[in-house]
Amino acid sequence: MSGSAESLSRLLVREDVRAASAYHVQDSRGLIRLDQMESPFGWPAELQGTLSERLSAAQMNRYPDPHALGVQKRLREAFGIPSRWSLMLGNGSDELIQIMMTALSVPGARVMAPAPTFVMFRVLAGWAGMAYDEVPLADDFGLDADAMCAALREHRPRIVFLACPNNPTGNLFDAPALERVLEAAAGALVVIDEAYWAFSSRDHLDWLDRHPNLVIMRTLSKLGLAGLRLGFLVGDPAWIGEFDKVRLPYNVGVLHQIAAEVALENFDVLRMQTRQIVSERARLAGIIGSDARMHLWPGEANFLLVRLLDGRAKDVHAAMIRHGVLVKCLDGGNPRLAGCLRLGVGTSGENEKMLSALDAALQETAG
Ligand SMILES: Cc1ncc(COP(=O)(O)O)c(C=O)c1O
Repeated sequence: MSGSAESLSRLLVREDVRAASAYHVQDSRGLIRLDQMESPFGWPAELQGTLSERLSAAQMNRYPDPHALGVQKRLREAFGIPSRWSLMLGNGSDELIQIMMTALSVPGARVMAPAPTFVMFRVLAGWAGMAYDEVPLADDFGLDADAMCAALREHRPRIVFLACPNNPTGNLFDAPALERVLEAAAGALVVIDEAYWAFSSRDHLDWLDRHPNLVIMRTLSKLGLAGLRLGFLVGDPAWIGEFDKVRLPYNVGVLHQIAAEVALENFDVLRMQTRQIVSERARLAGIIGSDARMHLWPGEANFLLVRLLDGRAKDVHAAMIRHGVLVKCLDGGNPRLAGCLRLGVGTSGENEKMLSALDAALQETAG
């Protein structure tokens, strides 16, 4: 035996992997957690009881159903997905993004997305060995269809990601701009990521009929099931059939399948919770939107994007933590987000505490 694990790993592990940092999640112990766009609501006790009962009957000695057909059936019922479209489930949407990239990555292949957007598009493109082109959003964070069409002609990507509503900006791109981009990207796979569909005024499921280059991605994460890790793709069987070859055979475990089925059988409970979040979002937007110390963007997700007009977002963020509330500080990443905080929408009690912490933090850091 020669060499230490450290020297050997330095020799063998890809240089870009060695240069990277692991995905960082800020410690939220003891804090009101409004930084990760989770649902603030747990399940009612009765549903928890049903869940425990069903989980206790799980056959842990057996591999799970590789296609999670029970979950697929309930997803179709809950989301109204017609039988002409296929479904594929993933360990969160993150895994689905990785699967699509793996299936489409050939030397020289490129991925395109507007910026700023969900960071995992860029991260996973990198691991798939694909070049990543970002096209700046317009000043109001709307989709710049002219710039996107020009970039499509120049870079000829294989995959285009469009998060609708977008994260971290929270807005829903205009439908005509989106249609233009879809048409201009006719030679590429376009993924509309509807992670925040449940809080939004529009979805794009019926666009699948008009655009053979389109697949729709959704997740249960924002519907009160972030801990479950279940995302799904909806699309033409021709696409899903190819992606399914790349998916690891048992990517959704026995316990996850049971929990997802119980959740989807009680979808009305989850939908009621999302409606509460939407109404709390409107209440928060009313208060924050009339505060002269910040600019608020109209949001269609379960969070709000604000710019602190004095720009000291990092100080305000740190002061809010001292007041027991964790939100996301976006300052220091994309320069378009300088001075910005992303405020997750919590329960009304949590939101009151968030507003007080924000107000106190702004006062403490002023001057
Ligand atoms: C736009 C967008 N897509 C996908 C995801 C990831 O979802 P999942 O939890 O299903 O991996 C997120 C998470 O924040 C997101 O903001």
